[in-house]
Amino acid sequence: MYHIPVLLNESIDALNINPTGIYVDVTFGGGGHSREILKRLTAGKLVAFDRDSDAEDNRINDDRFIFVRNNFRFLHNFLRYNKIGEVDGILADLGVSSHHFDDASRGFSFRHNAEIDMRMNRNSDFSAAKLLNEYGENELRRIFHYYGELTNANQLAETVVEKRSKTPIKTVDDFLNVIKPATPKKDENKFLAKVFQSLRIEVNKEIDALEQLLVHSLKSLKIKGRLVVITYHSLEDRMVKNFMRSGNTDGKIKKDFYGNTDCPFKPVTRKAIVPSDAEIEKNSRARSAKLRIAEKIK
Ligand SMILES: C[S@@+](CC[C@H](N)C(=O)[O-])C[C@H]1O[C@@H](n2cnc3c(N)ncnc32)[C@H](O)[C@@H]1O
Repeated sequence: MYHIPVLLNESIDALNINPTGIYVDVTFGGGGHSREILKRLTAGKLVAFDRDSDAEDNRINDDRFIFVRNNFRFLHNFLRYNKIGEVDGILADLGVSSHHFDDASRGFSFRHNAEIDMRMNRNSDFSAAKLLNEYGENELRRIFHYYGELTNANQLAETVVEKRSKTPIKTVDDFLNVIKPATPKKDENKFLAKVFQSLRIEVNKEIDALEQLLVHSLKSLKIKGRLVVITYHSLEDRMVKNFMRSGNTDGKIKKDFYGNTDCPFKPVTRKAIVPSDAEIEKNSRARSAKLRIAEKIK
């Protein structure tokens, strides 16, 4: 199994699909969400992005389907260049797929020893090994603090800088040994998951790509088009929530001359939708998911 789609029905219902409309799944992965969108289309079209070549192998053989192996940060440029025009809905299911963790050679997981790599796009020349051996202490601290929400970010950064001066960090096991003194015994797996998540977010410049995607979504959607985003991390969720409320990534709500809120989106649900207990029991990866939906109104 490449990946079990999270919040499948909830997210596809949220797109409010017009069977002849044009939709974009910007995080194709194993194609679970895309297949469900195609089921609900008649003469419509689906464009799917993924920057990982492994995901490309899952592409769907259907005349209504176009696969784009690229970063979703170029969404608007792609649609404009290919004269696709404005679209009816955009779905983003952020982060990595289960395949990334399960394929030991990709170096995303603390459970398998391999080169510590973590690149979604293997043509990129920036890997987790490069980050760990070249970033300065302040940069490392920032990553562990903001992207991992780790309370001992200082200690982690210091340990990495001290130990790598003796031997470079090349593999997952090298890194686990380096951070051993800073790894708590209690909830060790939870801690390591956060450390690895923080590196992955930086290696793939995920926050920057999300910011670009949000800005592009506004330019790419039709009026009444839907933006549907599933996040797995509080930093991403806050960005999405702010953007849906304000139309900009700073989250600053603008007011018009009369003092009315001037936002190009209307949130469709007030609160984020989260998976049911039954879904989490079947698929533990769903546990941190949050789904937010907005409709473009101007
Ligand atoms: C959570 S998985 C999506 C799973 C998918 N919804 C499914 O049902 O199988 C996220 C996917 O998005 C891709 N991805 C993440 N960031 C991306 C970006 N900036 N541009 C393009 N693809 C990206 C990853 O390679 C991964 O395959």
